[in-house]
Amino acid sequence: MATTRRTFLQSAALAGATLGMGDAASTLSAPRAAARPRPRKKLNLLILGGTGFLGPATVETALANGHVVTLFNRGKTNPHLFPDVEKLKGDRNAGEIAALKGRKWDAVIDLTAYVPAHVQAVTSLLADNVRQYLLISSISVYADLTKPFSDESAPVVELTDETVATMKTIRESIAHYGGMKARCERAAESAFPGRTTNIRPGLIAGPRDRSDRFTYWPVRIARGGEVLAPGDGSDPVQYIDVRDLGDWIVLCAENSVTGVFNANSPAGRFNMAEMLYGIKGAFATDARFTWADAEFLKAQELNEWKEMPVWIPAVGENAGFHLVRTDKAAAVGLKFRPLADTARDTVAWHNETRPADYDFGQRAGISPKREAEVLKAWRIRNTQRAGGALGTEAGE
Ligand SMILES: NC(=O)c1ccc[n+]([C@@H]2O[C@H](COP(=O)([O-])OP(=O)(O)OC[C@H]3O[C@@H](n4cnc5c(N)ncnc54)[C@H](OP(=O)(O)O)[C@@H]3O)[C@@H](O)[C@H]2O)c1
Repeated sequence: MATTRRTFLQSAALAGATLGMGDAASTLSAPRAAARPRPRKKLNLLILGGTGFLGPATVETALANGHVVTLFNRGKTNPHLFPDVEKLKGDRNAGEIAALKGRKWDAVIDLTAYVPAHVQAVTSLLADNVRQYLLISSISVYADLTKPFSDESAPVVELTDETVATMKTIRESIAHYGGMKARCERAAESAFPGRTTNIRPGLIAGPRDRSDRFTYWPVRIARGGEVLAPGDGSDPVQYIDVRDLGDWIVLCAENSVTGVFNANSPAGRFNMAEMLYGIKGAFATDARFTWADAEFLKAQELNEWKEMPVWIPAVGENAGFHLVRTDKAAAVGLKFRPLADTARDTVAWHNETRPADYDFGQRAGISPKREAEVLKAWRIRNTQRAGGALGTEAGE
């Protein structure tokens, strides 16, 4: 089955807060982005979430830049992180947000905005006490990504009020992830008119990403040998390093940047071959790629995005998926670090926190055994085709 936008959006969302991600074993200290001039004003920042994947990268930048951070979450995911930071407990699913009442912050960074009613509840408590609301949305808000190079003005998914009302929890919202994110954006903007920053990342990559969608490739390539690769290498890809994104979110708070922004690698920077060869360049590895076409992979039940992660063939409804414009964010400071840095740091995190026989079959990617089977099937198919072609020639 081809990956529809719906299945992609759901898997993207499930990789986040709803998986109850933990990295208790990690003592990770990811390298920071190169220093750049920052305004000196110390901010009080409230971060809704903060302990999964994008959260830690954002908190680390905020602390490194001298800001005061308060976290708000249930205290379940990685509670050992940031022992010196103020932690407020609550549960957005249960409407338990009383801990935010009567408090003042310079800016809120909402990493757990999935349900519009959750955003309404928080913003109505904070609209008079906070200057800026930064909401982490997603490029999944777009209703139509059939055309390359769409920008922030493209139409978003529209849900009816009745549909929205059926989803009260983060988990339930995943059924209409993009449309619910679009409604969350609108809820924030209506409570903080002109004071909202709606940030729409594409695939987020880097240390602590337990979805394996990017992680599979650098770990696989670093292992070396014959690597099964999807398509012919020409399909475009976009992603954003989690630390570049966290860094830029904080920059938007520091500089009071408001508006709507896609946050991704520059459109057209990489195709699949450039990404995989770029990753290879980061490691001393003898990896070599065997490219198998989409039809063959489908017959082997290896799907784009899932078993062959990151990859989305640039056709039909997904033709523009990995070609979203990002120049607006770049103009206000979004940086994009070298692919090799993301690849190396992701593998370092993986090696530090996971067993040597970690099974990539469970979330994204494929196991070494499955890869070997498919490579064998690919060779047999090619031999048969070559034999068939030769046979035809001989018979003519
Ligand atoms: N990953 C991607 O590729 C991608 C792409 C585009 C957009 N995004 C967006 O990026 C954002 C960041 O996701 P992240 O998971 O990395 O963020 P995160 O802030 O690092 O982790 C999720 C946080 O949510 C908290 N949380 C979960 N359920 C909660 C609840 N019911 N009430 C209060 N807090 C709760 C968790 O703590 P507790 O469990 O302790 O409550 C945890 O701190 C999300 O909005 C996602 O939609 C992600």
